[in-house]
Amino acid sequence: MSYKIHVIDDEPIIHDIILRVLKDKDYELEFSTNIEETLEKHKKQHFDLVLLDLMIPGTSGIQIFKELKRIDSDVKVIIMTAYGTLETAVKAIEMGAIDYLNKPFDNQHLIDTVEKALISSDKRDIEELKHNFGKSEFFHNIVGKSEAIKEVINKIKKVAKTNSTVLIYGESGTGKELVARAIHMESLRSSLPFVVAYSAPDELFESNLFGHKKGAFTGAIADKVGLIEVAKGGTLFFDDVATVPLQTQVKLLRVIQEKEYIVLGDTKVRKADVRVIAATNQELSIMVEEGKFREDLYYRLNVIKIEIPPLRERKEDIPLLVDFFIRKYAEINSKNIEGIDESALEYLKNYHWPGNVRELENVVESMVVLSENKILTKDDIPLEKRYSSIPFLYNLLELNGTSLKDKTEQLKEYLLLKALKKANGVQKKAAEMLGMKSTTFNEMLKRLDLKNKNTK
Ligand SMILES: Nc1ncnc2c1ncn2[C@@H]1O[C@H](COP(=O)(O)OP(=O)(O)OP(=O)(O)O)[C@@H](O)[C@H]1O
Ligand SMILES: [Mg+2]
Repeated sequence: MSYKIHVIDDEPIIHDIILRVLKDKDYELEFSTNIEETLEKHKKQHFDLVLLDLMIPGTSGIQIFKELKRIDSDVKVIIMTAYGTLETAVKAIEMGAIDYLNKPFDNQHLIDTVEKALISSDKRDIEELKHNFGKSEFFHNIVGKSEAIKEVINKIKKVAKTNSTVLIYGESGTGKELVARAIHMESLRSSLPFVVAYSAPDELFESNLFGHKKGAFTGAIADKVGLIEVAKGGTLFFDDVATVPLQTQVKLLRVIQEKEYIVLGDTKVRKADVRVIAATNQELSIMVEEGKFREDLYYRLNVIKIEIPPLRERKEDIPLLVDFFIRKYAEINSKNIEGIDESALEYLKNYHWPGNVRELENVVESMVVLSENKILTKDDIPLEKRYSSIPFLYNLLELNGTSLKDKTEQLKEYLLLKALKKANGVQKKAAEMLGMKSTTFNEMLKRLDLKNKNTK
């Protein structure tokens, strides 16, 4: 007896692919493109397996799934999902789907998944599902599962193989350099250098970039090779392109447009074989309006734009990042730390992270270094971070069993530390901010035992 499989997908191309991949197997395949067709077929006959796309126009895959269950509560369903919809996949598995396939799928993986499903209907552990998804989230060390990060990764893949100039936007510490490196690693230039050009005051920057001849300017005591030459055949990354001096911008435009440059103090025009990637945390279009950035260079750079949102706008990446950094720093420091507890993670998720991933990385590093626990807890979080986190304020304002005395103490701790930080550690100044005598301030610090706590 051959197995009957029903494929539900609105895209005929998916029907064709599945038909082609499974044609040599002894399966009877049926195809549907919408909910009506699907339900009609299920009312008339039994299917051994259903392959269901989660994105069916006009309805949701989850809805179809529920209807199918109503008709046949034992129906075996494998959901098909486009890269990235982990939440929906988890939801479908929780509702009783037996497996999932990521689109576009690998042919052999499709065959294996279908065979396995027909033999056994064991539900896949959600943790395992998450774990498998986890692997695809590590793209050149870019950790994250938010839609924003997935979009960044997709864009990297699309642009990497071209020679186009890429402009990366993002606040400080969001991972602009990490993204630039990923583009380089995915490009055809990956075996050649990736070189970072950090902006510096005028002449120095130009001589770093283009190189100079001996005697080109006072202090040029010998010939110097520039970064363009060092990066030959590879990628040249401008770390903060908004700070490139105006007179250098015109030369940079020439590098990108004509692929030419001149070494300082030389007359020979040289070929610039570099792919340019630029990053900035400033709105260049406004700088153009203000006459601080060349319009032609701006348009030239802005052909392909990758935007990395601040961490506070993609909190769902925080648990993965924390886990990643715990493992990284536990290993570096040979510490036996296994993870972090829920409540501590809640604090970290709700902090606003003005310094983005870099700040989070530094905090986790300090926690790993200073903690004596196997599992990090909220007591390991630097006080200043813990207290400007939303759960802290929430707990403070809720009637939740904590006594008024304790709440008051917490608020005092918080304000004392905040003032201390604002005063750069000068107690007298901090005391003034709170309208206190510095002796009283000092006594309170001692009493609250704040002096020696992790106030980084
Ligand atoms: N998604 C991420 N996954 C893992 N590590 C990350 C991620 N984003 C940033 N980091 C880490 O955070 C730190 C800062 O990243 P990076 O230097 O790329 O930021 P940046 O945007 O260039 O910062 P700046 O604007 O200050 O130059 C690095 O150690 C980097 O590895
Ligand atoms: Mg950077």
